[in-house]
Amino acid sequence: MTSVVKTVNLVKIYQDGALPVPAVRGVDLQVEPGEFVAVMGPSGSGKSTLVHLLGGLDTRTSGEIWLDGKRVDTLSESAWALLRRKRVGFVFQFFNLVANMTVGDNVELPALLAGASPKVARERRESLLAALNLADRADAAPAQLSGGEQQRVALARALANQPALLLADEPTGNLDSRNTRDVLRLLGTVHKEGQTIVMVTHDARVASLADRVVSLFDGEIVDDGRIARRRTGTAGEVIDLR
Ligand SMILES: Nc1ncnc2c1ncn2[C@@H]1O[C@H](COP(=O)(O)OP(=O)(O)O)[C@@H](O)[C@H]1O
Ligand SMILES: [Mg+2]
Repeated sequence: MTSVVKTVNLVKIYQDGALPVPAVRGVDLQVEPGEFVAVMGPSGSGKSTLVHLLGGLDTRTSGEIWLDGKRVDTLSESAWALLRRKRVGFVFQFFNLVANMTVGDNVELPALLAGASPKVARERRESLLAALNLADRADAAPAQLSGGEQQRVALARALANQPALLLADEPTGNLDSRNTRDVLRLLGTVHKEGQTIVMVTHDARVASLADRVVSLFDGEIVDDGRIARRRTGTAGEVIDLR
């Protein structure tokens, strides 16, 4: 089975004036198809840098990055842009919707950019908006939606091209608890349908939704543990950290 993500001794050192700032220091990470991985760690531990590297939004200093069995750290920026449109979905803390486009057009855009026919893009848009319960808001502007609704739209947009990998950087970091619950429910649903997810969070309750928690400290993986779940009939879901 080909890993969706594989990094080999991945290093990112920023240059802050004359001072080198090591943000990611020798990360070996493998993520298998269908896995839901939460990345945790204190502020400044390199979480955002790591997921940006995985999505080609930043370039590595050394080491290797493989997506779906293809080496990507050596790709040119334009090759990356093409690959990202088709294979990677991104969700950020601050939604990043296009403000002057309707909700519907925001969801439809990635498919069009990736070269889908207008008919296919339109079908995808309708099914995603329906799945989000936002079909009646298709013509609204993003600013007319609540934070949770906007983040669900951002998630729909990230999923529009059925990416091999969904990357999320603190997708609930800016939401109240009710909106957090709505976004997590949607993440749980797409995970059940087989979507591979790597999600940065500093919230243990959010992380408990994942199969696996990878902890970063000073740019290194210091812990990598699977979360065991079992159904216990009436007691519901029992979660214990191994
Ligand atoms: N563009 C940048 N230029 C210089 N230093 C950066 C840049 N981005 C991040 N860093 C530094 O890299 C380290 C890791 O940052 P980051 O990946 O944002 O951590 P986290 O997401 O875990 O809070 C921090 O020391 C941060 O200051
Ligand atoms: Mg961050």
